[in-house]
Amino acid sequence: MAKSTKSKGRRSAAQPTPNFHGHDILSVDQFNRESLDYIFEVAHEMRVLVERFGSADLLQGKILANLFYEPSTRTSSSFMAAMLRLGGQVIPINNVQYSSVSKGESLPDTIRTLESYSDVIVIRHPEVGSATTAAYYAEKPVINAGDGVGEHPTQALLDMFTIVEELGGVDGLKIAMVGDLKYGRTVHSLTKLLLDYKVEFTFVSPENLRMPNEILDAVKRRDHTYVETEAIQDVIANADVLYVTRVQKERFTDLAEYDRVKDFYVVDEELMQQAKEEMIIMHPLPRVGEISYAIDDDPRAAYFRQMRNGMYIRMALLAAVLGKA
Ligand code: NCD
Repeated sequence: MAKSTKSKGRRSAAQPTPNFHGHDILSVDQFNRESLDYIFEVAHEMRVLVERFGSADLLQGKILANLFYEPSTRTSSSFMAAMLRLGGQVIPINNVQYSSVSKGESLPDTIRTLESYSDVIVIRHPEVGSATTAAYYAEKPVINAGDGVGEHPTQALLDMFTIVEELGGVDGLKIAMVGDLKYGRTVHSLTKLLLDYKVEFTFVSPENLRMPNEILDAVKRRDHTYVETEAIQDVIANADVLYVTRVQKERFTDLAEYDRVKDFYVVDEELMQQAKEEMIIMHPLPRVGEISYAIDDDPRAAYFRQMRNGMYIRMALLAAVLGKA
């Protein structure tokens, strides 16, 4: 049967220090400004730790089960690197086709199995809500590493951490999200996470890849304004953050439709001439043509720094849920 004891959800206002010990990380809805500041502070300390010493023994004796039902390079390996750099160990399951999943084992049984060998479970799965299902069956903390087109909370945390580290804060920024806003889970999570801050949103996408109404409604409910446009030229001169995304080929049922929109936006040197000096280009990666390699050396290209920040954020989260932050 499902557990009943694991504490969940947003922390109570009475607690002086955000306490994630034993909690799942399933959605950005669990975070507020205070808990974000705390996680970012710990992530910053993790950066200093790695730069000075490479590793530590904070999570020595702890085991992470890293369960990926969908392809991943960065999320999967940064969680592994995070655990290893903190002295922990990892059970990596990146090829579910070689696990008992291919024999028809259910998600609950796979989770019950992995939690009997480990202290924390990271899961990426194609179905929306799968991480919540996993957390329902697990006593140990479960971290959502992407549930289909739903959420990708740890990515949103590392995205916001990158904005803070690069631009010094979030309030007052003009943030333009570009590309596949319909299927891109990173932009869903990041938009929701930004609602606690004073930002101006512009959503740039082809008509058929617009931000879902559910997210737009959440933006409106929190008294934020937003602009939707198809034209990246409308936003490039004013954006403080240009958050570019890949068209999510694997979510399309009609590949002809994918072909029509896959090259809709390309951020290149010519476009960047119109951008401000003090701005950043972000991308969760992988990129498949929407950012030209020619701008990789532009100091405004923050996506590789953003990728590295993923490890620091995941070190902070693992330490936090295991009660060692
Ligand atoms: C993203 C994802 O998996 O949602 N990648 C990542 O985690 N860095 C974005 C994408 O695949 O386009």
